Amino acid sequence: MERKGKTSAENLLIKIDQYLISEDYGFVLPHPQTELPSYYDPWMEIASNLSQLIENCQLCSKVEKMPLLSTHALTDYKEQRLAHLALGFITMGYVWQNGSEKAQKVLPGTLAVPFCKLSEVLDLPPVLVYADCVLANWKKKDPSGPLSIENLDVIFSFPGGETSKGFFLVSLLVEMAAAPGIRAIPKIISAMLHQDITSLENALQDVTSSISKMRDAFKLIHGYVNPEVFFNTLRIYLSGWKDNPLMAGGLLYEGVWKTPREFSGGSAGQSSTLQCFDVLLGIHSSPESDSAAAYLQSLRDYMPASHRAFIQALASGPSLRHFVLAAGNDRLQEAFNSCVSALLALRDYHIQVVTKYITIPAGKQKRRGCLFHSAVVPLPEKGTGGTSFMCFLKTIRDLTKNAQLLDIKTL
Ligand code: HEM
Repeated sequence: MERKGKTSAENLLIKIDQYLISEDYGFVLPHPQTELPSYYDPWMEIASNLSQLIENCQLCSKVEKMPLLSTHALTDYKEQRLAHLALGFITMGYVWQNGSEKAQKVLPGTLAVPFCKLSEVLDLPPVLVYADCVLANWKKKDPSGPLSIENLDVIFSFPGGETSKGFFLVSLLVEMAAAPGIRAIPKIISAMLHQDITSLENALQDVTSSISKMRDAFKLIHGYVNPEVFFNTLRIYLSGWKDNPLMAGGLLYEGVWKTPREFSGGSAGQSSTLQCFDVLLGIHSSPESDSAAAYLQSLRDYMPASHRAFIQALASGPSLRHFVLAAGNDRLQEAFNSCVSALLALRDYHIQVVTKYITIPAGKQKRRGCLFHSAVVPLPEKGTGGTSFMCFLKTIRDLTKNAQLLDIKTL
């Protein structure tokens, strides 16, 4: 990876909040707005009742009767994020409301026009992204209560009841657990610039402990997300229309583009957190030589622009790996390797979860025959660089393993 040296690194010394990253919440949007000006009631009423409207087959007619609203009355960033979240939910619901084989291939102008306009303002694609449904889709039940899953709720949800809510909230808690690790990154850069080995070691320990806490938060998934409901009900609403045989060519955004456009659906592969740790630890080789890395890199287009900019700035700063190797200090190397081990353990755990929530239910469905096949969307294949998603996840896991620094004495 090309490193441009000191100037970019010094830019990282500015506070992370300049990249819209929070000291306490990491990449999560702190205290998202939950209401829009009353002008936007038509959007909010549909998004807030989405599951019910889908279950009663009323979503289509509601969307088609929606007035064409301007985005100009969305005055600040949090309002814009809430509006993108609402329109993203309505879009996914509209496309997939009748099941995978009856996907709607045209998005009505009253939805497409404001969604694309707003997406342009936010520099996000006009599809529901991870930064919407996880990072900006939460509120506390009791505002003075803790940030625990019992005291958290989503703003909008899909069919799938508690599983749908649980999936978004567990992912949110995994992201929140990453905050101390993200907060440590400017300290790592500063310690490298000042050749301060002790501070560097301490900051790396913060990263390790934060990644371990992400894995602890991930374990909540078993209590809150049911594999069958995830696989058979929720998953389709997270599917996009890029390389998707059910939406060959993509989705036509009426009144915006004359031809259909392709966009990927919401995936935690769009999480800035994991990509940030990867860049910090020098996990991936260059995207040109590695299709898995190239796929991950392509998902950066689905991140908020400021988060993408932070990852790019980090990638163009000094190499932590090179610094640790050059320092020739056993304790520092151990601290670095502990970060890599924690990330490896997180990825191993993720693979176990994917087996439970996708591979096993998919196997059961195959054994049952094709009776319900039309109710679900195919598994992600092409988007992951042409390989199966499990192959892709294992490649990333192995790249993580290979990032361990060998014992200095054996070099
Ligand atoms: C039921 C729970 C989950 C399932 C079934 C699942 C499934 C998948 C699948 C199939 C992929 C590969 C293809 C794609 O981009 O969509 C993937 C990628 C990924 N997922 Fe998940 N996921 C789950 C939860 C999570 C959570 C809670 C996180 C962390 C916040 C996460 C983080 C990632 C990351 C970072 C990637 C990209 C590959 C990597 O960097 O290792 N996933 N996931």
